[in-house]
Amino acid sequence: MTDTPGVPFNDLLRGMTRDRTAALEATAAVIDSGYAVLGSQHAAFEKELATYLGAADAVGVASGTDALELAIKAVMPEGKAVVLTAANAGAYTSTATTRAGFTPRYADVDPRSLCLTAETIRAALTDDIGVVVVTHLYGFLGELAEIRALCDERGIALVEDCAQAIGASRPEGFASTFGHAGTFSFYPTKNLGAIGDGGAVVPGSPEIAERLRQLRQYGWQGKYNAALVGGTNSRLDELQAAFLRIRLPMVDGFNQRRRDIIARYSEAAADLDPTLLAVLPADGSSHAAHLAIARSTRRDDVRAQLAAAGVSTDVHFPIPDYAQPAFARFAPDEVLPDTTEACAQILSLPLFPELRDDEVDRVVEAIRGLR
Ligand SMILES: Cc1ncc(COP(=O)(O)O)c(C=O)c1O
Repeated sequence: MTDTPGVPFNDLLRGMTRDRTAALEATAAVIDSGYAVLGSQHAAFEKELATYLGAADAVGVASGTDALELAIKAVMPEGKAVVLTAANAGAYTSTATTRAGFTPRYADVDPRSLCLTAETIRAALTDDIGVVVVTHLYGFLGELAEIRALCDERGIALVEDCAQAIGASRPEGFASTFGHAGTFSFYPTKNLGAIGDGGAVVPGSPEIAERLRQLRQYGWQGKYNAALVGGTNSRLDELQAAFLRIRLPMVDGFNQRRRDIIARYSEAAADLDPTLLAVLPADGSSHAAHLAIARSTRRDDVRAQLAAAGVSTDVHFPIPDYAQPAFARFAPDEVLPDTTEACAQILSLPLFPELRDDEVDRVVEAIRGLR
């Protein structure tokens, strides 16, 4: 044990302190504008986000979960009601799917990336599936062009959950531009974080954009005239939009810093028995490095050793969706072996762009000291 303060898992105060002056100026600009929702900050943020992503459009909403719910509603083909997804991604898609009135179903994940792939999706396809939601878990953007082609062959709509993957890209485009819709969360700990809740959907066509804009505002086609069933109130407010405009230009730098920190952890773990600790790689532009994920067959023991060395850890996410009481009725008949094993082995190491080098050194030392 040591008397020096431990390494925090996250510390939002550091980013808020860095951006304090700009955030206060943005707050004043919003107050002086007299607009609280759907004003000029929101319109500018939608445009700037779309430009950053190389997308035609972006639709602001109130959270990442709302983004998923509205996206699923906007793209579900007529007569279908099943959403295929992964069960190791925090249950946000399960929540959104059931709120949309549809049924979640689960495909197993790839044992290396811990994400869905065309292969794992193909193995789970049935005729009643209308939407596949691929979560770019931990920030990893997989072979989405291949998944899109598979969905197109079967008349299935593809939604990308990019909550953890803003800025991840492949030569064909950024995360969110492969699907019929791509969703984002701006929850404060995300790679692009607000000072409150927020979200957005990148629509795959002008028609989907139009549906999303109606769905986020009571289903209105015009004021006080609801055209779409399933509308709700889900708007990104002016203050959050203004804060997000400050941080959007910083995202690429944040992502690089996150990747560099993970590279240090990987290097430190390279000499260990991989069953004790193996760090998932997060290299290159296809990875936004949202979380520093390691695997261990002795997770509790490893977490205890790291805690004793002053290093905070967490688990993202420990319980498959179908093993959580709210979604137990959707449990698959057969075990999903790679999902089950991943949930039992993963742990998350400290990772945020403002983590100091001396703190990274301390995590590295703690990793090297694992026995
Ligand atoms: C993968 C993923 N999807 C969706 C969400 C939901 O976003 P929000 O908390 O903004 O509703 C989160 C994070 O919270 C997430 O990590």
